[in-house]
Amino acid sequence: MKRDLGDGFEVDDDPSRIDVDAVHRFLANESYWARDRDLETVRKIVGEAVRVVGMYHDGELVGFCRAARCAPKLFYLADVYVVDAYRGRGLGVELVREMIDNGPHADAKWFLHTEDAHSLYERFGFEKPDYKLMERPRR
Ligand SMILES: CC(C)(COP(=O)(O)OP(=O)(O)OC[C@H]1O[C@@H](n2cnc3c(N)ncnc32)[C@H](O)[C@@H]1OP(=O)(O)O)[C@@H](O)C(=O)NCCC(=O)NCCS
Repeated sequence: MKRDLGDGFEVDDDPSRIDVDAVHRFLANESYWARDRDLETVRKIVGEAVRVVGMYHDGELVGFCRAARCAPKLFYLADVYVVDAYRGRGLGVELVREMIDNGPHADAKWFLHTEDAHSLYERFGFEKPDYKLMERPRR
């Protein structure tokens, strides 16, 4: 479903519109979490995502996020970004809103990792996990 945000911006969950090269370019050059991810791996995990949301400006991909399904009602939100030139004008909020609140899995449990964007996700009900969540660090 496509949603017009005005000023040439729109969000869209059509996976066929995702410019995988652009996603890879951002992750490899500008993210703090996936600089070692090669193009084929990005293509694979974008293809395997249960849902992707792209942010577009005049048709060009300027933001992205994906959701992985871990269980029928458990999802992982990942690779959330808006390119630097368009940050700070509410697009990140709309991107996450489209994925979480406007998607078909709004009633499910979601989790994610973030270094510094906690307040962005708190708007959508994310909170510190309770004692049941464990994780094994990367080796
Ligand atoms: C995080 C990101 C997607 C936010 O996009 P954005 O379009 O700049 O965000 P918005 O303009 O919609 O505002 C986001 C809100 O979250 C808050 N926020 C919290 N942490 C933030 C952070 N690290 N970066 C940006 N905003 C942050 C902002 O202050 C803002 O709240 P406000 O409206 O009350 O001021 C964008 O800054 C980005 O791509 N950063 C680099 C990649 C990244 O860190 N992604 C998140 C990985 S978990």
